[in-house]
Amino acid sequence: MEDKMRLQKYLALCGVASRRSAEKLITDGRVGVNGTIIRELGTKVGPCDKVTFDGKPVSYTENKIYIALNKPTGVLSSASDDRGRKTVVDLVKDDFDERLYPVGRLDYDTEGLIFLTNDGDFTYAVTHPKHNIDKTYEAVIRGILTEEQIVALCRGVDIDGFITSPAKLDVIEEREGRSVIQIVIHEGKNRQVRRMFEAVGHKVVKLKRVSIGRVKLGNLKVGRWRELTEREIKGLRGN
Ligand code: URA
Repeated sequence: MEDKMRLQKYLALCGVASRRSAEKLITDGRVGVNGTIIRELGTKVGPCDKVTFDGKPVSYTENKIYIALNKPTGVLSSASDDRGRKTVVDLVKDDFDERLYPVGRLDYDTEGLIFLTNDGDFTYAVTHPKHNIDKTYEAVIRGILTEEQIVALCRGVDIDGFITSPAKLDVIEEREGRSVIQIVIHEGKNRQVRRMFEAVGHKVVKLKRVSIGRVKLGNLKVGRWRELTEREIKGLRGN
């Protein structure tokens, strides 16, 4: 590692976030250096500086880790929580000496595939909208979709002024006033899938992410993790 580098670059190397998102963490006052909250993006740090994110120490390691976790509902997908709720990091921290950070987000009440890593470049590759990585969800919704609603969801719907990109949709099951729908999107607006179904008048009662790019949740049990393979990591990086 270089001697001194910009704080946002250091945070990305440690895996806290991609470099761009790290800038926001800094300006939001969530990053400390040697006991002082730093909001200036130009700040440089070196190996002797003590950097914290949300009050927790951040450290650099060459040993990069990439895991897939099946997040249970009722667990936060952030690195920490000031209200003491369980996070995805809590679910894996006893298994690693390195501190890991979630890649992107899933709602508190959503289950399914989420990655954790200590490599901010990987986080950038997976989360930046320009990389268009497909995410597949299985949604249980109230009611049955009409043909028009299916077409609308596939073409794009208006969620609070944002028109969603074309989505792929498969009806898996329709039974007892509920439907199971598989939907593939590549954007990641807040609560996007729930809001897309709401836009056509259906409530999502259960949501699970079943794949990210070519990486599938498969039979990974809820609350369990596995390491990503070299091939999966390369595929997600786009090479
Ligand atoms: N869309 C949602 O509505 N929730 C998630 O957690 C992910 C995508």
